[in-house]
Amino acid sequence: MARFRQNPAAEKVLVRDSEFQLPVYARFPVVMDRGEGVYLFDSSGNRYLDMMAGLGVNALGHAHPRMVRATAEQAAKMIHLSPQYCTPYAGELAERLCALSGLAGAFYSTGGSEAVEGALKLARAHAKHNYSDRKFRVLSLEGSYHGRTYGSLSVTGQAKYRDDFEPGIPGADFVPRGDLAALRAAVTDDTCAILLETVLGEGGVYELSTEYLQEARRLADKHHAVLILDEIQCGLGRTGKWFAYEHHEGVRPDVLLLGKPLGGGLPLSALLVNAELFHSLGLGKHGSTLGGSPLACRLGLEYLEVVEDEGLLDRVTDTGIYLRQRLDALAASSDIAVEARGIGLIQGLELTLPGRPMAEEALEQGLMLNFVQGNVMRFLPAFLLERSHVDDAMQIIEPLMAAASEAIASEALVAAR
Ligand SMILES: Cc1ncc(COP(=O)(O)O)c(C=O)c1O
Repeated sequence: MARFRQNPAAEKVLVRDSEFQLPVYARFPVVMDRGEGVYLFDSSGNRYLDMMAGLGVNALGHAHPRMVRATAEQAAKMIHLSPQYCTPYAGELAERLCALSGLAGAFYSTGGSEAVEGALKLARAHAKHNYSDRKFRVLSLEGSYHGRTYGSLSVTGQAKYRDDFEPGIPGADFVPRGDLAALRAAVTDDTCAILLETVLGEGGVYELSTEYLQEARRLADKHHAVLILDEIQCGLGRTGKWFAYEHHEGVRPDVLLLGKPLGGGLPLSALLVNAELFHSLGLGKHGSTLGGSPLACRLGLEYLEVVEDEGLLDRVTDTGIYLRQRLDALAASSDIAVEARGIGLIQGLELTLPGRPMAEEALEQGLMLNFVQGNVMRFLPAFLLERSHVDDAMQIIEPLMAAASEAIASEALVAAR
């Protein structure tokens, strides 16, 4: 990637990163300097169209003027405070999130995994106090992703992430996505929680059907399990509605998990519960030193207001429809594409080959792409994205796909000779 290596200062940053940061991420050889809206600029001044928005966090793009102002104002007053003290923002944000979701109360933590941990503890405590000690099993989906901490990892349905760290927490059960019979067979009176991503994100971008979600709701009621919807990736506007479950008639969670964009880029996640569960995590049973800081909650409120004031849910819907049309057309015309999936601005294009080389090529041409499961191009752009940005992205993606397809064809020709 010649473009980045030309900058000696950037080269130093890359070398230092690889020397002093654990090799957990396959980082791209570029040093980003600043962002503006849907664009990022590297330390050599090159511009990139950002189609992954910090893995879905930067839903308002980069350096949104209202978020910058709110950050500066609040940082000058107070950044952090022990959660044992009150500021206006944590309660106001909780009230707002409850009003939007119809749920009754919130607990804040920092990242998504931590919200999942809280939900697992809450579901187990509720089951233990109200039903039996044996009711501790958690059902989630094969291919799901709920985080990297021990509990959240244990209920993540991908062995490749769990294998090195087994045994995880006891009582984690998995069923294949979309299989109603398997779901019915797996939920028992020992199940304390059914945990589902309304749209699976990291697992490859799969929407759950209304029928499947309704059945999960029914089974949770029947067996006195709590239905936890993990909308850390797909919630807070990404599907064109505040919450992805709103696309599904009759589906309401008992516990809703939110994160990613909630703190406007600061670490903030929330666990929202219904009225029955309000007291399930009682005094001293849970905590998070950094959770719900005044700064993060103030940004959370600003985030919700900006989405409303700028009509961004409609924008997500409109741009999402257009993105999907373009991806469907590409999937139909390319022999290395399997299908396009998703809704709003959480979309995926599954390829028949690993995406990393294409992501590196795209970066070289000024486009930030993200792949999950190795071969699913996942789009999680800022809600500010417009149709013209989709066109710009496609102008880079389509030739890259064509080139990859040609390369495969010529390799096959050589092999056949
Ligand atoms: C659905 C879902 N749940 C949980 C998590 C974990 O969140 P975090 O990485 O903030 O801990 C993620 C992260 O991608 C996610 O997509």
